[in-house]
Amino acid sequence: MQPTTRSRIFCLTKELNFKRSLSSQELIERDNKYGGRHFKPLPVVLTRGEGVHVWDVEGKRYLDFLAGFSTVNQGHCHPRLIKVMKEQAAKIAHTSRAFYSEPHGELGEYLTKLFKWDKFLPMNTGVEAGDTAVKVARRWGYRVKKIPKEQATVVFAKNNFWGRSIAALSASTDPNCYTDFGPYVPRFDKVTYNDLNALEQKFQQDPTVCAFMMEPIQGEAGVIVPNNGYLKGVRDLCTKYNVLWIADEVQTGLCRTGKRLAVDHENQRPDILVLGKALSGGMYPVSGILADEQIIMCLETGSHGSTFAGSPLGNRVALEAVKVLEEENLADNARKLGQVLRTKLEKVPKDIAVEFRGRGLLAGLVINKEFGEGWDICVKLKEAGLLTRPAHGQILRISPPLTITKEQLEEGLSILTTVLNSYK
Ligand SMILES: Cc1ncc(COP(=O)(O)O)c(C=O)c1O
Repeated sequence: MQPTTRSRIFCLTKELNFKRSLSSQELIERDNKYGGRHFKPLPVVLTRGEGVHVWDVEGKRYLDFLAGFSTVNQGHCHPRLIKVMKEQAAKIAHTSRAFYSEPHGELGEYLTKLFKWDKFLPMNTGVEAGDTAVKVARRWGYRVKKIPKEQATVVFAKNNFWGRSIAALSASTDPNCYTDFGPYVPRFDKVTYNDLNALEQKFQQDPTVCAFMMEPIQGEAGVIVPNNGYLKGVRDLCTKYNVLWIADEVQTGLCRTGKRLAVDHENQRPDILVLGKALSGGMYPVSGILADEQIIMCLETGSHGSTFAGSPLGNRVALEAVKVLEEENLADNARKLGQVLRTKLEKVPKDIAVEFRGRGLLAGLVINKEFGEGWDICVKLKEAGLLTRPAHGQILRISPPLTITKEQLEEGLSILTTVLNSYK
């Protein structure tokens, strides 16, 4: 080997070793210096994950009670997902939809047979899938419902969250999401969540409504579970007024709430189902919509697409991700352990937590403002070996990987209650 080559390799190795040996604090400072500030991560730098555990760069182990905002339902680095990811990446990763590839149809067939809609249209992120659903609904509004040109209205539930695009923030009622990003998308209307009278009034007053988009449980709003009967009521009203029901199950879907879908708790079937997050297994972004032929086919050739959507790598991983959820009975686990979670956290005294909300392993503990700040409590939890984040300042999210065992859940809950009891 030439001396110059050897010294170049030496320098490179030295640089890599140097980079690897940065402390958490140094890594955080570099991140803050070079990265955008649109998000404020908890001060911990993760480098490895396995199942329900993650490790920071200093080697400390944590229980992950956030699971990437309900994305890593299958647990971190599930061996089956790593295997198919490696195999598919080595075979062919990207073709674009300019050509056919095997996993696209394979995933479509599996999902449509499992969920019982005619067709699946893959996208990448949750917000793109939501946007796709809105596009389909507007098209259907003009072509099937015969709404006059440029007048199709989409109604959204207040306090919804479906992402950060211009369309999603136009639908938002949260000033943090929409302020100073206008002008907004027109003919997006909003209605109180969990209020069937208000919804019926909207439908009665406005014949231009093509769709109602909502989450069966509002996740980012702080895990708001609607009254029993709300989903059936939404179905009935949408049918009565010829409005498409779009259920955004990006967060609630894929076993998180103790059933395959959150709408299954009331045995209801939306017209368009939006999936994301756990469809990726946390490995490669995959989202999409499921709907019947006469609705989804309103998007004909040339009217929609995305370079990465439907890639062989993404679709192969998504297929395995859903099979893992099914074959490991993770909906059942979420349902059973959701009960354990509820029993324990409903007992937290009201001066500490004013309310527990949740279904399955999607839960929120509402911390009394006078007791402490959600953020500060999450920092203390981190120090004690448990990771989560607050929603809207005071709501501690509890959404671990669905592979969690009873013992691991009890360990996490014991950390949580110990920290809360010793907080002041
Ligand atoms: C219900 C719901 N829909 C859509 C989204 C947006 O997903 P993504 O961040 O992948 O765009 C989220 C993200 O939290 C969500 O909770």
